[in-house]
Amino acid sequence: MRGKFIVFEGIDGCGKTTQIEEISKWIPTSGLLRGDSKLVKTREPGGSSLGKKLRNLILDNNKDNKPSSLAELLLYSADRAEHISKIISPALDKQDWVLSDRFCDSTLAYQGYGRNINIDIIKNIESIVCQGEYPDLTIFLEISAEESFLRRKNFIPDRMESEGIKFLEKVNEGFKLIAKEKNWTIISAAQDSSTISNEIKKTLYKNFSQEIND
Ligand code: TMP
Repeated sequence: MRGKFIVFEGIDGCGKTTQIEEISKWIPTSGLLRGDSKLVKTREPGGSSLGKKLRNLILDNNKDNKPSSLAELLLYSADRAEHISKIISPALDKQDWVLSDRFCDSTLAYQGYGRNINIDIIKNIESIVCQGEYPDLTIFLEISAEESFLRRKNFIPDRMESEGIKFLEKVNEGFKLIAKEKNWTIISAAQDSSTISNEIKKTLYKNFSQEIND
């Protein structure tokens, strides 16, 4: 029996990071973890040691370092390959639970729907990079692109966040299509933070509490 792999997806500013913080404090008290299982909180890009360096490169605002769309796709993919090999798979093998802020469907949404890279090319690369490691559950925190911009208006944007609203709308449409196709749990991130956390907790119980009793 392996651990559980839970991924949070959504456009920038949807509140994933806040929710992951909250939920990662709650899970150890929830009764969902078995025996010695621990919780591993991680993210993409930047979940591994090499990934932290890649994250700085990928999100660098310096125009001279702006990657081509293909290079960008491969940088996110390199980050993911390392993340899976060094962090995700070893944790799941130890029966730990992994909560990841983004995974491969961010690439489909941002590089596929956002940058218009052919979806089949992305899926081919994904099949090499993911090494069969896919989430047990993906939670999509849904907000509009307008709301995303409003929430971030006082922050200095990184390179990806500097893309305009049209780009983010395409990414969001992509996420909605993927969410439907893959039957994700969709939670409105326009609600207040504690309502969102409660919906996430209910979803985790619904999906995993049965196994505690097995
Ligand atoms: P974060 O702000 O959620 O940490 O993510 C960094 C940015 O990278 C965010 O704008 C989404 C983007 N991104 C992609 O474009 N493709 C990917 O595969 C991943 C994981 C993130």
